[in-house]
Amino acid sequence: GVLAIGAFAAWIAIAFVRAPLDTVGDVDFDRALTIPPLAESRVDGDVRTFDLRLQSGTSDLGADHLTPTWGVNGELLGPTLRAERGEAVAMRVHNDLPETSTLHWHGMHLPAEMDGGPHQLIEPGNVWSPTWTIDQPASTLWYHPHLHGGTADHVYRGLAGMFIIDDPLEAELDLPRDYGVDDLPLIVQDKNLDDDGELDMSESFFASAGVIGETIVVNGTPGPYADVTTEAVRLRLLNGANARPFTFAFADGRDFDLIGTDGGLLETPVAMDALQLSPGERGEIVVRFEPGERVVLRSDPSDTGNVFAGGQDRLDIIEFRAAEQLDPSPRVPDQLAEVPRLDPEDASEERSFRLSDSTINGLEMDMERVDEVVEAGATEIWTVTNADGGSHNFHVHDVQFQVLDIDGREPPPHLRGWKDTVWLRQSEPVRLIMRFGHHTSTEWPYMFHCHTLRHEDEGMMGQFMVVEPGQSPGPIPHAEGHE
Ligand code: C2O
Ligand code: CU
Repeated sequence: GVLAIGAFAAWIAIAFVRAPLDTVGDVDFDRALTIPPLAESRVDGDVRTFDLRLQSGTSDLGADHLTPTWGVNGELLGPTLRAERGEAVAMRVHNDLPETSTLHWHGMHLPAEMDGGPHQLIEPGNVWSPTWTIDQPASTLWYHPHLHGGTADHVYRGLAGMFIIDDPLEAELDLPRDYGVDDLPLIVQDKNLDDDGELDMSESFFASAGVIGETIVVNGTPGPYADVTTEAVRLRLLNGANARPFTFAFADGRDFDLIGTDGGLLETPVAMDALQLSPGERGEIVVRFEPGERVVLRSDPSDTGNVFAGGQDRLDIIEFRAAEQLDPSPRVPDQLAEVPRLDPEDASEERSFRLSDSTINGLEMDMERVDEVVEAGATEIWTVTNADGGSHNFHVHDVQFQVLDIDGREPPPHLRGWKDTVWLRQSEPVRLIMRFGHHTSTEWPYMFHCHTLRHEDEGMMGQFMVVEPGQSPGPIPHAEGHE
């Protein structure tokens, strides 16, 4: 009793003493940003093959001791995969970890059996070899484990990487695209480290969203700086955190151009001074620098419309250091890509999803249950509602969707492109329109879920199958969860 009261008092003290506008942690920006290497691949015949190895190691995350971490082809995070639209790719994913895992290609349109979700387990010592043809526009996707009940843990330990898709339309635009020079991947994550330097996964106070960390790492580098040598730099921002929403803004409030969202380029650039990305979301921005200046990219507190969304501290993320002489960069083109609007008149089905209390529509994830059956090629409208004010967003596998409206209002310009993950403000239904592809299966489901990883693990996830008209799903093979 006394202990509980003490703990409660401490909780109250910590929750209220820390004013929301304080900057969390002191950041010195004394380490050069690590740029994940581009993954090596080989082309046999028409297939580009990547060898990926899930492995354990240690990393210097700025604590007094090295931190045990996991990575892909390295000790923390993984290489950037890169392939062209139209290319066939093959992955050989070796699991050298002591635990079963999976590798999911977030944002990818591909057959469900290749998706790397909770049904494609890779046992320790085994190799999983999915293959598919890249069939979607230039975009910044990513990959991470997706085992039911274990995603939060495996991502937090460091398994994640970017997957860049190129296409000829994007290649013709006058945009920065020199990887690691004026086109930088930024995987932004938050960690808590204990006194021994170990990753601490204790959950936050906030609605059990999971870890809200106070050490910010970018591409695994704590306190990073990046040297800038060109007038404009393209940043591929990925919120790779377990639970924390980030609102990216420069400390001096400068504008930047948002050029792309989860599924590819926008029609026209959107000038913004703050961009909110929840876990799993990506944003490609182009920002301009003056010679010799230093400017910090940080996360600002912002209105999440969501009572229980924690983690809205002011956080310093990375410092950009512009050289005294900058190579000239072109202005961002006025026209980027065509984003044909999906037409609600074409929708053959409407479904609704209510997220609350670790469930979707009152049901916890069940590996053996197929929640929704979708016809190949169908256009559908999905209405998604955050019904409990928790820290929720919504991610759908296989497709990129468009936001039709949010609580009846037109989406803001930065939400009018292709998306696969969208933030949910409390009690503001978001209507999504999507067209399903033709990768059908009666055995293998795709997932839809909240991308706050603890919620996903706890069951805020469901399964859909894409089938030919008239087909019905059979039983799902290998429907075991993660112990
Ligand atoms: Cu990024 Cu279903 O996952
Ligand atoms: Cu959630």
